[in-house]
Amino acid sequence: MKILITGASSGIGAATAVHFAEQGWQVTIAGRDRERLEGVYTSLRGSGHELVCGDILDWAEDPKSMPQFGALNAMVWSAGCCRLAAGMLLRAPLLERTLKTNLVAPMVVTSHLYRTKQLVDGARVVWLGSQSAHDAGEGFSMYAASKGGLSAAARVLAKEFSQRKVALHCVEPATVNTPMTKALIEDFPELPKKLDHKIIEVDEVVSEVARLISSSIRP
Ligand SMILES: NC(=O)c1ccc[n+]([C@@H]2O[C@H](COP(=O)([O-])OP(=O)(O)OC[C@H]3O[C@@H](n4cnc5c(N)ncnc54)[C@H](OP(=O)(O)O)[C@@H]3O)[C@@H](O)[C@H]2O)c1
Repeated sequence: MKILITGASSGIGAATAVHFAEQGWQVTIAGRDRERLEGVYTSLRGSGHELVCGDILDWAEDPKSMPQFGALNAMVWSAGCCRLAAGMLLRAPLLERTLKTNLVAPMVVTSHLYRTKQLVDGARVVWLGSQSAHDAGEGFSMYAASKGGLSAAARVLAKEFSQRKVALHCVEPATVNTPMTKALIEDFPELPKKLDHKIIEVDEVVSEVARLISSSIRP
């Protein structure tokens, strides 16, 4: 059984890759930072894993430029970015980059993989959404907009993709202890005090992702 994981050079994506390799899957890990990707790659148990270095913004712009992944039984889309900006300081370039990374890329790339049947009939897809889609603090408007769009798109595409029994889920974790969160706290040390929930550990998210993917198919 083969799984593609984007954003696998860090945080949730990296931990998800390690989990699925432990479960006997062949894992294709994707990200931009080759050094960190290679670190994750060498930590994967088992054999048959692949490493793909690339920018999802390029893939979304021209899906034909994407590598051929072959027959995928599952995909976890964990690539994403989060930048904060006060509402009165919004500018198009950063907003557009956030939307392209968190919304346009997962939609276009998943569509391409479905259309080209690299996502095989019965495949399982999980997108990393966020609780911010429903409830986010000040400064998070760009991120919230991107993840809100992702949740809405997932509900529609799940219906369309069910024709080939491809299941699409969008998980929506609260704040997770990852490099993304650490970078935000470095820039805004007061952030943890402003959260009305506790910061959860990566393993909790990986368990939920694994449950959604493995409930109906097993290697
Ligand atoms: N952390 C949280 O609190 C939290 C909560 C809810 C949802 N999420 C979502 O969960 C996902 C993973 O978050 P995380 O906390 O694990 O973040 P992270 O540690 O910062 O990892 C983000 C990953 O996305 C990749 N990425 C970003 N832009 C990319 C691009 N243009 N092309 C290719 N890869 C790109 C990064 O690759 P490189 O580093 O190699 O460029 C990295 O592997 C994100 O979608 C995030 O929005 C996070």
